[in-house]
Amino acid sequence: MSKLKTVYICQACGAQSPKWTGKCSSCNSWNTFVEEIREKSGSGTDVRQFSGTGSKRQAEAQLLSEVATDLTERWICADAELNRVLGGGIVPGALVLLGGEPGIGKSTLLLQLALQMEGHRILYVSGEESEAQIKLRATRLGLKQDHCYVLTETETTAIFKQVEAIRPELLIVDSIQTVFSPLIESGPGSVSQIRQAAGEFMRFAKENRVPVFLIGHITKDGQLAGPKVLEHLVDTVLQFEGDRNHSYRIVRTLKNRFGSTSELGIYEMMGEGLREVSNPSELLLTRQWHRQSGVAIGSTLEGNRSLFVEVQALVGGSAFGTPQRSTTGFDQRRLSMLIAVMEKRCGYRMNQLDVFLNIAGGLRVEDPAIDLAVCAAMASSLQDMPLAGEVCFAAEIGLGGELRPVTRIENRLAEAAKLGFTKMFLSEHQQIQHPPKGIVLEKAGRLDELIGKIF
Ligand code: TYD
Ligand code: MG
Repeated sequence: MSKLKTVYICQACGAQSPKWTGKCSSCNSWNTFVEEIREKSGSGTDVRQFSGTGSKRQAEAQLLSEVATDLTERWICADAELNRVLGGGIVPGALVLLGGEPGIGKSTLLLQLALQMEGHRILYVSGEESEAQIKLRATRLGLKQDHCYVLTETETTAIFKQVEAIRPELLIVDSIQTVFSPLIESGPGSVSQIRQAAGEFMRFAKENRVPVFLIGHITKDGQLAGPKVLEHLVDTVLQFEGDRNHSYRIVRTLKNRFGSTSELGIYEMMGEGLREVSNPSELLLTRQWHRQSGVAIGSTLEGNRSLFVEVQALVGGSAFGTPQRSTTGFDQRRLSMLIAVMEKRCGYRMNQLDVFLNIAGGLRVEDPAIDLAVCAAMASSLQDMPLAGEVCFAAEIGLGGELRPVTRIENRLAEAAKLGFTKMFLSEHQQIQHPPKGIVLEKAGRLDELIGKIF
């Protein structure tokens, strides 16, 4: 008879302990140990070694020079943004994890991917929605449905049985937290279940060279639930983000064994699914800015892509003793620093004024190249003077009020010229190899000097 064995497993990092402790000694998180019952099999084999797909192949060492690569035969999907974040298409046998907050559109994105792949057999497994719900969503997307199978099942062995019968060319699992393996005792969503189930899907993907997409939920603090164990296992981690009150969605590559991690895909959530946005600046700019004071256009890099965003500032007298500093899409401490620089180095009196700063469009900007646009927007609001015509900004600001050069200026300039800007304000230390035609470069060493040139 088999014996029951209990272990305590940290739900944050997967560390094991024979007895309960309050603090995990490997990841230092508190109160994350959960008791799990594990059946000890008589033969002494570890249940986690089970392969979801039958017998194990004998591996033989191979000369590296003789290893065949199949990275060239990627599947190019209809969705150009997804191709971009995957590093140029879907690699056969790849295990891809798509993480994101609830309601952001993960199921929509992958169902859309499945339906776009006409002529291929796709299996979409859902542990979250019924077939009818998936059907409703598919109808809403308005795409062909006769090549896509759906299955509502949460037990991995049952899923693999269906996989065997259908032999799909692409498998989608929504979500990894809902599926469970009957081989181990703990409940769905626990670290050991997630690791086990993901391991079974990985073995299936590698042995059959079928790409598998797993959807993963994100916890309140932005971590993938059942996190590090899963990130190590999969080939690619994509993160789906966005502000639920805005329609833009961003897919970021956090890890990719088959390509670069600085890629980014941008979508817009429409009534009938996600629309690819190939020219994001056009979406982010309203083209109304030269009529208002307090608006400046700044350059930012998201991954490898150069975007232009509208920075809006409102600077005005405070009704209360303590002035308010409020930001959307920009770091509040960075704003305080820029206000201090404008006070100390440019002679503006702002310590009794409220400052509201907003990056239009719901994007969160972390690129320091946006600093100059932030200061220009504040100066424009303060003086109540709109900025001249089609100008844009790209420079970081130091504590001394000096303008600092930014990275990848060629990308930024090319995008600016494409969008029809005629002038860009830069640091005088910015080195530019091939300035594009049709755009004037206005350089300055210090912020006060530059503000003199703007107005
Ligand atoms: P969903 O894919 O269910 O999110 P997730 O799987 O990440 O939890 O999408 C959720 C939201 O998307 C939902 O609030 C409705 C919205 N939506 C649209 O706006 N248009 C559409 O065509 C679809 C299918 C969904
Ligand atoms: Mg979903």
